[in-house]
Amino acid sequence: MTIQFIDLKAQYQHLKADIDARIHAVLDHGQYIMGPEVRAFEEQLEAYCGARHAIGVSDGTKALLIALMALDVGAGDEVITSPFTFISNAEMIALLGATPVFVDIDPVSYNLDPKRLEAAITPRTRAIMPVNLYGQCADYEAINAIAAKHGIPVIEDAAQSFGAGQRGKKSCNLSTIGCTSFFPSKPLGCYGDGGAVFTNDDALAKKMREIRVHGQDRRYHHPLIGVNGRLDTIQAAVMLAKLPSFPDEVAARERIGARYNALLGDVARVPVILPGNQHVYGQYTIEVDNREAVQAKLKELGVPTAVHYPIPLHLQPAFAHLGLAAGSFPHAEAAGRRVMSLPMHPFLTEEAQDAIVAAVKQALG
Ligand SMILES: Cc1ncc(COP(=O)(O)O)c(C=O)c1O
Repeated sequence: MTIQFIDLKAQYQHLKADIDARIHAVLDHGQYIMGPEVRAFEEQLEAYCGARHAIGVSDGTKALLIALMALDVGAGDEVITSPFTFISNAEMIALLGATPVFVDIDPVSYNLDPKRLEAAITPRTRAIMPVNLYGQCADYEAINAIAAKHGIPVIEDAAQSFGAGQRGKKSCNLSTIGCTSFFPSKPLGCYGDGGAVFTNDDALAKKMREIRVHGQDRRYHHPLIGVNGRLDTIQAAVMLAKLPSFPDEVAARERIGARYNALLGDVARVPVILPGNQHVYGQYTIEVDNREAVQAKLKELGVPTAVHYPIPLHLQPAFAHLGLAAGSFPHAEAAGRRVMSLPMHPFLTEEAQDAIVAAVKQALG
């Protein structure tokens, strides 16, 4: 049996007829840029997430950039974010000339720890950008309350958590602006790059729609500086075909995640779902000692693994200028040494999962 880390081919086979038909419809009408599928997909996103506005964009990183630009983040500003994640958020903050201000994670959820948030707020704080790592939402009730007290907007980085929920609301609709990614390996993936921004604020929605197309409000008239941040019509078509079965895929992810937890809970530190959260397991990530040896053994046994993420952002060479030495964020650093993600996708069979679990137990000795 070949075990895939993520099995996109199985999903394609399952939905092939509709995906092929929708791609061919785009080839036939030829509106590759901002064709009708883009708005149709946005409407589906609005219905799914319950947000007033969903705006399809070119990728998850651009979603974060557009959100930051809409909030006028620029030189001299500070944006608070997590040090334990993919580089996109800190990268886009820095690209705009602002400073990423890291707040250590809560070691249970791996998300920005609201208890440490208020101490990091200064008069220059322009936004707070928590990340829903591995598909579990940060604590927006606590974060939004602190943000509201200081009049600061919150950008939800939901790149890994599309489909997740918190206290009866969907991820992407938990704060001022939600941003997600449709990178192929994400819970809702397209067949290239894609992303979306969400908001309930009409003025911010208008601004983000304009920023997405070079700050344009009508053809060749540019009140704002923007970017080329459009979602491709073909990618919208692919996701229109995928959305109807997405709730079933989310249910499968939850079932597979819960089964992993039950089977591995006595040999490794498994994910903990905090009260009020519905986890979508964008990644299924455990903690182990001697990670490199465990990974090497699993590779030998035919089980692919990955590390999300080995080096916290404050220790990345690109952020050396921030002068944040090792030891600055002990929980992020400890997680970076210990986390390991296992194969996770909605088409993982119990047989494959049993083989993975047996291999993990063998590798842990
Ligand atoms: C937490 C997080 N934020 C942002 C991104 C960026 O998304 P994209 O790869 O679509 O630009 C990713 C995806 O890799 C991510 O995992």
